[in-house]
Amino acid sequence: MIARVDPARCTGHGRCYMLAPDLFDADDDGYSVGGDRPVPEGMERRARIAAANCPESAIHLVLDEPDPTDPQSPTDTREENP
Ligand code: F3S
Repeated sequence: MIARVDPARCTGHGRCYMLAPDLFDADDDGYSVGGDRPVPEGMERRARIAAANCPESAIHLVLDEPDPTDPQSPTDTREENP
């Protein structure tokens, strides 16, 4: 899973880095640092909570790309926006 912060939508509410400080960082103005952040295994729930609590819906969760050679690989690559 990847957590993607859309800097065009972020208005600096700060809930993401307060709820999941291991996943999100703030810049000097309190905006979440944009871009893609890999979500380590075991941190998916925390990423979902942070995304669900962003008032601007600025956090999108992207499921991992499927690996066609791995039968255990996820097949659903929808972008989540809780
Ligand atoms: Fe920005 Fe939402 Fe976090 S507005 S600072 S991405 S809670």
